Amino acid sequence: MRNRVEWRDAKVAAIRQVAEDVRRIDFAVEGQVPSFDPGSHSNFRVSINGGTTNRTYTVLPAASGHIAVAVKLHPQSRGGSRFMWGLEQGQAVRLTLPENRFELNWRAGHYLLLAGGIGITPIYGMARALAARGASLRMVYAARSRGLMAFVDELHDHLGDRLTLCDNSQGQHIDLDAEFAALPADAECYLCGPIGMLEAAKAAWAAAGRPISRLRYEVFGDSGLFAEQTFTVDVLNRDISVSVPPDQTLLEALVGAGVDMIYDCQRGECGLCAVSVLEAGSEIDHRDVFLGAEEKAEGHKMCSCVSRLNGGRAVIDVGYRP
Ligand code: FES
Repeated sequence: MRNRVEWRDAKVAAIRQVAEDVRRIDFAVEGQVPSFDPGSHSNFRVSINGGTTNRTYTVLPAASGHIAVAVKLHPQSRGGSRFMWGLEQGQAVRLTLPENRFELNWRAGHYLLLAGGIGITPIYGMARALAARGASLRMVYAARSRGLMAFVDELHDHLGDRLTLCDNSQGQHIDLDAEFAALPADAECYLCGPIGMLEAAKAAWAAAGRPISRLRYEVFGDSGLFAEQTFTVDVLNRDISVSVPPDQTLLEALVGAGVDMIYDCQRGECGLCAVSVLEAGSEIDHRDVFLGAEEKAEGHKMCSCVSRLNGGRAVIDVGYRP
């Protein structure tokens, strides 16, 4: 695991469509690329609306000296996926060497890997690494349709009948209760998918009487209960009202309006960007994995980097005192 963020120059080496809405992009990186574990991430400097910011993507298994990512083009893209899809062969980019925040424990007796949609990106690398080590594993991969599934042929090559696909358009869904009931006691489950899938898995995992430490997960921050809508926040003690359009996060809008914010992961994991919600005229669409279920239900806090309001207006407190 790397602890220090190290930026490097790189060039787009290859672009390949791997699903209807997913492109794999391989980058040739200047200098040596240290080996990295499956589940690792790299940051990319992206240009959006004339400015630059960073976006984080899970890295895939790649050739030596390369870093590869799979990017889904989001209909409500905040600009990151549009930028990445606009890259051309040979184009220069800045990226960081991979760091791991979704670590695989190599010592489990059995592994259940669950992927939902673009959640395949870390799970794909884990499946290949575990299969290469001869680990006992099963993988279930769900998506809205077969055409939206990436890397299926490669996964079949590595896993054979240990891979099950669930094509939602054919009425196929992951039977979490059955999957968890079939696991041996020393099994671990690794899951990456939308927040709804994670919440359902957490509930089924607890109902199966399994220790929460053996359910390891990551979600993608754009997976909420509601479609993105414009909402407005009034910042307590600051004469500032911020309108947050669908293609922007609350954190970005606050920073853009000159509000001092503390933040780090921008993935709904660390909780540093959480703001207090004093009044809300609509439901909070919690998209983080930092707040607990009770805190989310209370609706007094939200992680501004990923969570949104389902329209309307709210008064928030960012901790500023005159
Ligand atoms: S910056 Fe980490 S949860 Fe928002």
